[in-house]
Amino acid sequence: MSNDEFPTDRPAVVTCGLPYANGDLHIGHLRGYIGADAFNRALQTLGQQSAYVCGSDMHGTPVAVNAEQEGVEPEEFALEWHEQYEETFPQFNVEFDNYGHTHDETNTELTQEIVRELDKEGYIYEKEIQVAYDPDADQYLPDRYVEGTCPYCGEKARGDECDEGCQRHLEPGEVEDPTSTITGNPAEYRERTHKFFEVSEFADFLTEFLDGLEGTSNARNQPRQWIEDGLQDWCLTRDMEWGIDYPGEEERDIVLYVWVDAPIEYIASTKQHSERVGKDEYDWEQVWKDEGDIVHVIGRDIIQHHTIFWPAMLEGAGYNKPRGIAATGFITINGKGLSTSRNRAIWAKEYLDEGFHPDLLRYYLTTTGGLQQDVDFSWDAFQEKVNGELVGTVGNFWYRSLLFAYRNYEGTPETDVSEEVLARIEGAIDDVRESVNEYDLRGIGQAATQLAQYGNEYIQRNEPWKLTDEEPETAAQVIRDCVQIAKAVGVLLEPITPDKAQALWEQLGEDGAVADAHLEAALEAPPRTFEEPGELFEKIEDDRVAELNEKLAERVAAASDDDDEGADAETESDDTAAGEASDMADIDDLEPLAEDRIGFEDFQELDIRVGRIESAEGIEDADDLARLEVDIGFETRQVVAGIKQLHDLEELPGEKCILLANMEPAELFGVESNGMILAAGEEADLLTTHGDAEVGTKVQ
Ligand code: MF3
Ligand code: ZN
Repeated sequence: MSNDEFPTDRPAVVTCGLPYANGDLHIGHLRGYIGADAFNRALQTLGQQSAYVCGSDMHGTPVAVNAEQEGVEPEEFALEWHEQYEETFPQFNVEFDNYGHTHDETNTELTQEIVRELDKEGYIYEKEIQVAYDPDADQYLPDRYVEGTCPYCGEKARGDECDEGCQRHLEPGEVEDPTSTITGNPAEYRERTHKFFEVSEFADFLTEFLDGLEGTSNARNQPRQWIEDGLQDWCLTRDMEWGIDYPGEEERDIVLYVWVDAPIEYIASTKQHSERVGKDEYDWEQVWKDEGDIVHVIGRDIIQHHTIFWPAMLEGAGYNKPRGIAATGFITINGKGLSTSRNRAIWAKEYLDEGFHPDLLRYYLTTTGGLQQDVDFSWDAFQEKVNGELVGTVGNFWYRSLLFAYRNYEGTPETDVSEEVLARIEGAIDDVRESVNEYDLRGIGQAATQLAQYGNEYIQRNEPWKLTDEEPETAAQVIRDCVQIAKAVGVLLEPITPDKAQALWEQLGEDGAVADAHLEAALEAPPRTFEEPGELFEKIEDDRVAELNEKLAERVAAASDDDDEGADAETESDDTAAGEASDMADIDDLEPLAEDRIGFEDFQELDIRVGRIESAEGIEDADDLARLEVDIGFETRQVVAGIKQLHDLEELPGEKCILLANMEPAELFGVESNGMILAAGEEADLLTTHGDAEVGTKVQ
């Protein structure tokens, strides 16, 4: 199955994974909400009818456990966070068409209706299962109330998710050596009757669904593997009070599992939007039941919920399925995992309090890495990106073009744009259109920034300041071209930096909102006259960065001091703020340095490339070997690597790696290996790049 390209003549909906209403928002959240917002805006610049909806995820143990710690009722607790999120998102120019929550009436009713439908269709059955129970707390222990070991990868896991390991969803009773998070006691097991959804019936449907699914490749590859491993049915109910009642079982003290009602909020929120603007304007039923383009932007930790359970539910209840799922990588801070408990995070509020414009972070988060890649945030990298690309390239070009135009022509010179420049802008528009269709946000930003770069070169090359007296016509032509390029950069950048694009729009004397303009506006002349422009981006100074680094280091250190007093300090002690000493191996353990030197030419014979792992699977019968597919820009290579035991293969797709491309092909266990992945040491620590080097780039 293949889809028509965006823009289509159907309405689209873009959603983003719902935030649990249980704590402060941070940069890890923002990556997703900003990304989806930018994608939705970009669709609209293509002329696509589209809405962006989301809501707070109010139920489940993630909320109940935290509310209990605060000594507040879950409803009150969740509503408070919900209100805070509603306020925070617009401050980052994340503009939802509707932002609801899973506990509201629309979602409660729709959830019960969908569950009834699944029941009616015969996809739900009851089964007795063993559930964890804490005798001291006299409480059942669903999901986050219990911790143990993941039966699939051996990492520490929560009751319903292997959050530190393979990211799999775990069914009740699956986690090994369960202990209660309330008392720390080993959990007992008790028999309870629960409702199950026959996900296993949907294997063929899901396989076909994945074949047609757009978005990032990790959202197709991981679930394919899970289907191959065999699907389990999904327990739909939990022994707790907080949540939506299972329809018809109100008297029993079970509620629906949070992952049932959470994604249904995508539909409920669309419905609320539709009801507010009127069905003539936007029809939620058309999108979800008839013909619409549904796009989910999610974190890669919730791929299984969105590519297995959710489409099975939609199919079972007669709804449309998503067209695209874009699963983003994680955020690291200064090269280490973001950790809210260790305060190693950049908080949404903190960022704003520091006085930075939201568009700077939007630009950083969308253009630093590909969607699937993990993106590192550091204040240094942020400064470099802002000063280099936004101040140096875009802002500089905007300001010098408009200022020159204003001073010499009081606005846009009255000539036509040159063919060369028109063609260049058309090329950039095509790049944006293509990037949107490839769910490539970074591509959108790059198309705009490269156009600004071209503009800077164009001015430099034509030196209009030398021409105004001698060759006034040529000068007017050059400036006319630059004004057009400036406007085009603004139009193209709008999805990513909407405020700054709007400011430019106004400087050009344009009316209305650049957000309402389509890409073609990039080719239309700005008004004849405009006022004196101002600079739109400001440089971030070094001492500011030093100050921010210090603040971050101090608070991480303070949090780890707190940790040391806590019982779980042991498990986290390898991860202190200073932590460099642990990277050093004992010299005696190292392989001796080579005595013989080689010439540069010898080195050059090695064709080493940046690659991206597309898929990774174990080779049957070979204990250590895995078969990888690696994209190296020109082509995708199959390679065999001895990393099966050392890596979580499911984690690898999407990761960048370094590949020796001109290695002679070899055959291992009947599988051809066409290249060699570079890795360090016995643990096969995979080499990668830390900047933006694109796939296919030669290492030299
Ligand atoms: N609250 C969940 C999380 O943060 C995401 C829910 S997404 C939805 O992991 F699909 F369920 F809506
Ligand atoms: Zn696991």
